[in-house]
Amino acid sequence: MTDAARRASGAGGPGPVIRPYRPEDRDAVARICLLTAAGGADATGVYRDDALMPEVYALPYVVYAPDLAFVVEGDDGRVGGYVLGVADTAGFIDWYAREWAPGFRERHPVAGPPTVHRPAYTEAQLVADGGDPERMRIPELDAYPAHLHIDLLPDLQGRGLGRRLVDTVRTTLADRGVPALHLGIDPANVGARAFYERLGFHELPSSTPDAPRFGIATR
Ligand SMILES: CC(C)(COP(=O)(O)OP(=O)(O)OC[C@H]1O[C@@H](n2cnc3c(N)ncnc32)[C@H](O)[C@@H]1OP(=O)(O)O)[C@@H](O)C(=O)NCCC(=O)NCCS
Repeated sequence: MTDAARRASGAGGPGPVIRPYRPEDRDAVARICLLTAAGGADATGVYRDDALMPEVYALPYVVYAPDLAFVVEGDDGRVGGYVLGVADTAGFIDWYAREWAPGFRERHPVAGPPTVHRPAYTEAQLVADGGDPERMRIPELDAYPAHLHIDLLPDLQGRGLGRRLVDTVRTTLADRGVPALHLGIDPANVGARAFYERLGFHELPSSTPDAPRFGIATR
């Protein structure tokens, strides 16, 4: 990254930088998704197919809205975190049903047998969710049309980058006239809940103990 890009990213000196997603980041994004997918911890081997989680919670986002994806590039030049957003969840649901779900169902027609792990979020549920974009249609969609996913590898956590990633996507959404965003969390992920509450997110009326949901205005 050039000095100008580093300054533009707000980094202000050596250290990890936030920059727009590029197509060559795709594998890194998939890897980070897997390494943070078990309630914030490594989900490698938790499901029979390590490709499943990124195919549901990361890759469709960078295909549909690469302009709302930002990555963290570490000092070593490796991508170690991201925020992935969509501005219009309703439009994303339609696109996913048309363009993504058919291929997903073809690649993953049935859930594999359980692995030695016994996650609360089973492979059967993950395979079903991957083919069912309607799961993303929440009652508050008109008021909170955007949604996002954010993940950082452990060495990049706790350094203010999560806050900066959320600020980056919030500002981008606000500049496009999108009023608010929502997100869902794994109920087991207590760290994520604390993070979102610290950033000012509030729990949405449709939130349940099994499916906690939070929202925030973009400005
Ligand atoms: C959750 C996550 C995105 C937070 O990003 P982060 O860079 O670690 O968080 P930040 O350093 O930007 O913290 C921002 C604020 O939240 C607070 N916070 C972050 N994690 C917290 C935690 N586990 N408990 C309490 N507070 C927390 C920080 O203290 C900080 O407060 P401050 O700015 O007032 O000092 C990141 O830790 C992560 O990717 N974890 C693993 C994957 C994951 O859980 N993703 C979310 C899935 S919904």
